[in-house]
Amino acid sequence: MLKRLLITGAGGGLGKVARKRLTHLAETVRLTDIVDLEPAADKEECIRCDLGDAQAVERLVEGCDGIVHLGGRSVEDKFSVIANANIHGVFHLYEAARKKGCSRIFLASSNHVIGLYTQDQRLDDKAQPKPDTLYGVSKHFAEGLAQMYHHRFGIETAIVRIGSCFPKPVNRRMLATWMSHDDFVSLVECVFAVPRLGCPIIYGVSDNDERWWDNSHVDYLGWRPKDNAAVYRDEVHANTPLPARDAPEAVYQGGLFAVEPIHQD
Ligand SMILES: NC(=O)c1ccc[n+]([C@@H]2O[C@H](COP(=O)([O-])OP(=O)(O)OC[C@H]3O[C@@H](n4cnc5c(N)ncnc54)[C@H](O)[C@@H]3O)[C@@H](O)[C@H]2O)c1
Repeated sequence: MLKRLLITGAGGGLGKVARKRLTHLAETVRLTDIVDLEPAADKEECIRCDLGDAQAVERLVEGCDGIVHLGGRSVEDKFSVIANANIHGVFHLYEAARKKGCSRIFLASSNHVIGLYTQDQRLDDKAQPKPDTLYGVSKHFAEGLAQMYHHRFGIETAIVRIGSCFPKPVNRRMLATWMSHDDFVSLVECVFAVPRLGCPIIYGVSDNDERWWDNSHVDYLGWRPKDNAAVYRDEVHANTPLPARDAPEAVYQGGLFAVEPIHQD
């Protein structure tokens, strides 16, 4: 059991799931976000913090022996917004982890690191990045940072390229990319239970019939996703029209992110 687990982005979609379902991993859970949060249990501590503030992030990480890093901009935006949260912010987090001796991190990366691969391609952890947005580039930066801090300073990170982690798949692309909340929770549990983690790239995806990504290189984690988006296939097909064969959502792994404009400051 961890002494103190830090969950960043605790006010967000996945942060709320982590807060509800992962508190058993640690004696104390420190929740942080740029928005205000209130402790709801004795073991919870809440600290409001902008990841762009290096000194505040250093104080945040003090005393934590594990981090679930979910905080940051989670869609495409102006470079200034992406840079503050996802580039400066993730650097501040790893520097704080190095200085304060925190040795294991679950890093929420994204499928948008490889979003410009086409949907007929099958990828594993050796695939060269092909980011589709500034957001995807920022996640690629975070992955590189995690690897540098692993090889130089021994910090272990699960680099998790999350597909689409929502209660259920709501469009046809998600029949391939969906990760259920149960599978997300069990992945975080495995990341903090495995004796030696290293710094693997993991595709955050359920056991979907239509998935594009191969996780066989991380069998050693003991993570066995149990859900399958195929259960929702009829519902998704009934509720979403079939896109044209050359529509971005039918061509690219990153879907519509592949045609996002560059947002101007
Ligand atoms: N949910 C998914 O399907 C999915 C897919 C791919 C990647 N991810 C990644 O997983 C993480 C969590 O995703 P989510 O869906 O919960 O996103 P979300 O947008 O709901 O939550 C992100 C949280 O980060 C906080 N945040 C934003 N900027 C911040 C800053 N400068 N300082 C501190 N906190 C800040 C927000 O207030 C928000 O509560 C994100 O890093 C996202 O990029 C999620």
